Amino acid sequence: MSAARAHPGLNGHGAAGPGGRDPIIEVRDVWMSFPGKKMGDAVHVLESVNLRVHEGEFVVIVGPSGCGKSTLLNAIGGFVRPTAGEVIVEGAPVAGPDARRIFVFQENGVFPWLTVEQNIAFGLDAHAPEKRREIVAHYIELVGLGGFGKSYPRELSGGMRQRVEIARAMAANPHIIYMDEPFGALDFITRLKMRSDLVSLWQREKKTVLFVTHDIEEAVQLADRVLVMSRRPATVQEEIRVDLERPRDLDSKGYIEARDRVFRSMGMSLRVGSEEGSGGGGGGAGVRLLHARSDAVDRCEREPGAGGAAGDGGRCAVFAG
Ligand SMILES: Nc1ncnc2c1ncn2[C@@H]1O[C@H](COP(=O)(O)OP(=O)(O)OP(=O)(O)O)[C@@H](O)[C@H]1O
Ligand SMILES: [Mg+2]
Repeated sequence: MSAARAHPGLNGHGAAGPGGRDPIIEVRDVWMSFPGKKMGDAVHVLESVNLRVHEGEFVVIVGPSGCGKSTLLNAIGGFVRPTAGEVIVEGAPVAGPDARRIFVFQENGVFPWLTVEQNIAFGLDAHAPEKRREIVAHYIELVGLGGFGKSYPRELSGGMRQRVEIARAMAANPHIIYMDEPFGALDFITRLKMRSDLVSLWQREKKTVLFVTHDIEEAVQLADRVLVMSRRPATVQEEIRVDLERPRDLDSKGYIEARDRVFRSMGMSLRVGSEEGSGGGGGGAGVRLLHARSDAVDRCEREPGAGGAAGDGGRCAVFAG
C-alpha cells in the first residue's frame, strides 16, 4: 500500500481528527490581500484557504516561494488579520499573538546579549528560580548544548543558535509551535541533523507543530501530513498524508513515493537537464536526488570524507540510494 495518500477535496481536509477530536487549529475560508503600490491595486495572496490541525500533529505547509506561506502562518499566529475568513485556535477566534503559542523563525530569534541559559530562561519568570534552572538544564541537554549554557550566541554556530531557539520555544511549554523555515539558513548537513533532532524532540514532548518550508524533502521527512499550497493567490491544493514510521528511511519506497507525490502536486518534474547530462542517478528520473541518514551524517561530521559517504573535493557529502 502506498504510504502517501492524497485527498484532493480540501474543504475541511483533516476533518477526521484522531479519536474524532476537534482540531486545535482551524482555518476557515481565509482570504488575504495587501494594498498594492498604486491606489486601487491589491496583491491577492491567499484565496479560500481551509485547513485543520489536530493536537499533537506535525503538519508541514509547502508551496512555491512567495505564494503566501508566511502570510498564512502569520494570520494563524495572530500577527496579521485576514481580509476574510476565520482562524480558530484552541476553540477561540485568534485576536492576536498568544504566549501559549510560540513562533520559531529562520534566524536571529535569539537575544545576542543573553547567554544560552538566559535565552532559554526568557519567559520562565512565572517559575521559582530552582524550577527555572531545572527547566533550562533539561532543554539544554535535550537540544545537545550541554556545556554551552554560559556561551553567548556569537560564540555558537548557526545550527547551535537554532537549537537555542528551539530549546527556548520548547521550554516555554507552548501548546503549539509555529515554525517558519527554521532551518532555511543552515547548511545541508546541519539541516538534516536538525530535522532528525526536531522529530526526536517532538516525539518526546508531543507538541502540535505547524511548520512552513519550501523544501519538499524537508516536508516529507518531518510531517504527518503535508499541505501543498498553489501559486499566488494561494490555496491549499492538496493534502498528502505521510504514514511512515520514524525515524524515516529516506531510501524506502514509501518515502520516495510520498516525496514524488509532493513534487508532482507542485507541478515539478524530477527531470533536471538532459538524461545524458544528469549523471545517471535518480532511478531513471534524470536527476540525482540526495538523501542522507542521520547515522551517515554523524559519521560525516566525525570523519569528513569517510567511506559510506562520498567525498567531494575533500568535503563530506552523503549519498544514499
Ligand atoms: N505586509 C505586506 N504588504 C504587502 N505585501 C505583502 C506583505 N506581506 C507579504 N506580502 C506579499 O505577499 C506575498 C506572499 O508573501 P509571503 O512572505 O507570505 O510568501 P512565502 O510563501 O512565505 O514566500 P517565501 O517562500 O519566499 O518565504 C508576496 O508577494 C509578498 O510580497
Ligand atoms: Mg516565507
